[in-house]
Amino acid sequence: MAENIWNAVDAYFDSELNAADPAINSAIDVSAAAGLPSIQVSAAQGKFLYLLALAQGARRILEVGTLGGYSALWLARALPADGQLVTLELNPHHAEVARQNFVNAKVAGLIELHVGPALETLARLRAQRIDPFDLVFIDADKANNLAYVQAALELSRIGTLIVVDNVVRDGLVVSPKPEAAVRGVRNMTAWIGAQSRLAATVIQTVGSKGYDGFLLARVQS
Ligand code: SAH
Ligand code: DHB
Ligand code: MG
Repeated sequence: MAENIWNAVDAYFDSELNAADPAINSAIDVSAAAGLPSIQVSAAQGKFLYLLALAQGARRILEVGTLGGYSALWLARALPADGQLVTLELNPHHAEVARQNFVNAKVAGLIELHVGPALETLARLRAQRIDPFDLVFIDADKANNLAYVQAALELSRIGTLIVVDNVVRDGLVVSPKPEAAVRGVRNMTAWIGAQSRLAATVIQTVGSKGYDGFLLARVQS
């Protein structure tokens, strides 16, 4: 199936279902103008994250990998007025652009943005014994996926949903010679599969972001 069909179908459903508010849309332009890579989730995927957050009744959301804040804005739109999104970003320039996008969208008060290596921030959050998250979205350096899932589990409760982006990558996940990012996905997947605390699956996706997939894992105990 040709990728231009995937794009046309995304465009069709976007026009019928996935209209974002102007501040979310402008985050894409602001990020591009600031030179950030255009690797944020698609509108349909952002809407999917928003719906997952609503289905979870999420009041506390953790994101690993902020970029310019596009997925963060979709997630923040699902929060109640006293909710919180904690989002972690390594690159100070990305974080600065994200902060600007949060202010523009008038959700800066709902979002705590931590700049630095996510594994260090996660260790600090754990030491602070913060309240558990209801939803976790992992979308950063793929080689660390397993460590992020393990850290997320420590910051979870029964019923927390953990979502991991980019687990298929054009089918590279089953490549006989996996690169580091793919090894990160496979290590994580094997570990999750052996964890009785997690019920998990992967949904493969196509669309304007190509052929990829989300892993979903629910904390069961
Ligand atoms: N979730 C975003 C896209 C994130 S792209 C969206 O859909 O809108 C991946 C981001 O992870 C990049 O901004 C990159 O700088 C960041 N990243 C890479 N390594 C990281 C690390 N060790 N800790 C935190 N963030 C990291
Ligand atoms: C890349 C990272 C992502 O999170 C994504 O959704 C697409 C691409 C990347 O590093 O190339
Ligand atoms: Mg991604």
